[in-house]
Amino acid sequence: ILLLASLLTTFIWYTLENKEKINKVLEQYSKAWKKQEEPYQKFRSQLSAKCHGLEKATITQANTPVGTKLVYDGEKKRTLQVNLEIFSTFFKGHPFPNKTWHTCAVVGNGGILANSSCGKMIDSAEFVIRCNLPPLSNGYEKHVGINTDLVTANPSILMEKFGALMGRRRKFVESLRSYGDSLLLLPAFSFGHNTPVSLRAFYTLEDFESPVRPIFFNPGYLHNLALFWRSQGLRTIRLSTGIIMTSLALELCDNVQLYGFWPFDFHPYSFQTLTNHYYDDRKTKTKFHAMPDEFNHLLRLHSQGVLKLHLGHCK
Ligand code: CDP
Repeated sequence: ILLLASLLTTFIWYTLENKEKINKVLEQYSKAWKKQEEPYQKFRSQLSAKCHGLEKATITQANTPVGTKLVYDGEKKRTLQVNLEIFSTFFKGHPFPNKTWHTCAVVGNGGILANSSCGKMIDSAEFVIRCNLPPLSNGYEKHVGINTDLVTANPSILMEKFGALMGRRRKFVESLRSYGDSLLLLPAFSFGHNTPVSLRAFYTLEDFESPVRPIFFNPGYLHNLALFWRSQGLRTIRLSTGIIMTSLALELCDNVQLYGFWPFDFHPYSFQTLTNHYYDDRKTKTKFHAMPDEFNHLLRLHSQGVLKLHLGHCK
């Protein structure tokens, strides 16, 4: 009985502590949100001045000619001189045509999206960005939508789910069907071990004539973006994919709407426990990422009217 009582007290104490933490977050979260043009323009021009995302976020044949020395953003001592073979895998043309989109949805993978009914709202954006090849079918459609214009893929997924693309590769190509002809953004030059598997992803998509268009992150952009966020007071070893894509969206889009960003294990309104992702409970590597700190920055941008953070249910 004593053991049970002490377990119950711990549980109640833990719940109350979390409720308090969440209430503090919600105090800053205004639901009656309106875009504020001045802070938005200011933040966007600061970002553009430091990172030049429009022209430099991704590697293209135009911005990275043969002979360029790429410096890996995750391993500063590692470099790679672009030869003809690697150059031929670079994107031809411009991935972001010379215009800004009216509305972009950046979809994080947080468990908060489960049962959110946000699918229609996400799909109504002109440009939809998703992170790390998330599942879109099997009942998730209603909550996360079905449209994708750009999706990122961490090479660790290619290693774990698709045998590093060393064997049969059809399963990989088929798993990408739900993303239509979207851009597949790979951090090929962040760490040395990312390069061969990213190139294999490129060749696989070419060989299978997949409509998905692979493209590589520019390590110079990722480096500058890390410096930018450090100058904003964010301390983290690696930026998460979500904050990277949000930053890019702020340069590409007039209105940036975030979904699935909530790195806490309690729902902000129902207080129900949440899984880390809307599709599984795989935990974030806290050794590298500081998602709650990143979230505070996103919350600040929400309260300044720079971007809109959706929490909870969509109507
Ligand atoms: O690869 P990474 O661990 O950064 O991302 P992920 O777990 O696949 O989720 C994609 C993005 O969603 C993250 O980078 C975070 O920005 C965001 N996220 C969140 O805000 N809260 C969660 N509980 C999970 C993810």
